[in-house]
Amino acid sequence: MPLALFGLAAERSKVDRFTLLDPDNLITIRENVPLAPLTTLGVGGPARFFVKAETGEHVFQALEYAAENALELFVLGGGSNILVSDQGFDGLVIQVAIKGISLESEGKRQVVTAKAGEDWDPFVEFCVSKGLAGIECMSGIPGFVGGTPVQNVGAYGQEVSETIISVKCLDRTNRETLELTNEQCGFAYRTSIFNSSHRDRYIVLSVTFSLIPAGPPKIEYKDLMEYFSGREATLAATRETVLKIRAAKSMVILPADPNSRSAGSFFKNPVISLKRLSELEDRLDVKVPHFNASDGMVKVPAAWLIERAGFYKGFSLGNAGISTNHSLAIINRGEASAAEIVDLKNLIQETVRNEFGVDLMPEPIFVGNNQQ
Ligand code: EPU
Repeated sequence: MPLALFGLAAERSKVDRFTLLDPDNLITIRENVPLAPLTTLGVGGPARFFVKAETGEHVFQALEYAAENALELFVLGGGSNILVSDQGFDGLVIQVAIKGISLESEGKRQVVTAKAGEDWDPFVEFCVSKGLAGIECMSGIPGFVGGTPVQNVGAYGQEVSETIISVKCLDRTNRETLELTNEQCGFAYRTSIFNSSHRDRYIVLSVTFSLIPAGPPKIEYKDLMEYFSGREATLAATRETVLKIRAAKSMVILPADPNSRSAGSFFKNPVISLKRLSELEDRLDVKVPHFNASDGMVKVPAAWLIERAGFYKGFSLGNAGISTNHSLAIINRGEASAAEIVDLKNLIQETVRNEFGVDLMPEPIFVGNNQQ
């Protein structure tokens, strides 16, 4: 049930401002909106207030509404990387659902801008169908375009930071729009200023990518190299192969696959020093898989540590569990509560810390009062 049009809830002086606005472009604020169906994990309670923002102006209006009513704000995209608490969120949730894609040729590259509310995977499909290289390995990742720079989404050898030119945002501190360059976004593995130093400051409105027309696909990840040895790798074949590999790991959202009721990888892959790695190998008397990270550090697969700590694929704790197809995905096995997901997450973190002295950092964002 719509609670109020924003203009009606505002003070008189604000009402004057809103009477200047196009009445067809006012936001509708809904109350007690269940958030679970808007997330891929499918758990958690409602938002006290909820706005679906379909234009930049809507986002602006929602910000003003939150400020005037002293409401905490949470910005939702495709809901693929969040865990909502069972109590829900006692503030205003803005779902940024602004749509649109534009293309512009610039020398040898194609500059493609996608609005934040575009679904990521159809966007990748669109670019691949136009023969544009640069994001094909990130096929099948759930969520919206606007979420991708926040955690510098990456898979199969590509990260969005490799192709992002700039990110257009609304600054919550002064409610102005600005365009941040790639460098200003401070990208690193699963990190940017949006989820670290400037967390909660910017709302992403659109993302601009630089893609290469008729460019070659990136075949650098082990699984892809194996598949394409002796085969021709086109952009379309790369996309198809990534989708197949992901589906086999239940990392593509399919309603019929209960293993895909997850937030993807629940933990980041820990980055440790070579010294720590060799200590670990000596202690366990086993070769620990790892990949080179920068500055002489290595990335150890969290999935390996989790399995080695005893959490086999298919492990369950109440209604929470581990995917039968990938040990890094915590899944909602049915009617899981957020508390059950958090209990399993805590158990995994404690066990891995005790066994290996390694801290696993969660990848999803916790919304509401989750006991983390
Ligand atoms: N492994 C296991 N058990 C498993 C799965 C993997 O032990 O069930 C070990 C193996 O040693 C394997 C290694 O982990 O070689 C790496 O596995 P995988 O290739 O599946 O990649 P990942 O490190 O687990 C990362 C990303 C994924 C991304 C894949 C492919 C993170 C936290 N996760 O997973 O991203 O799709 O690489 O590039 O970096 C996501 O972030 O939500 C996500 C799905």
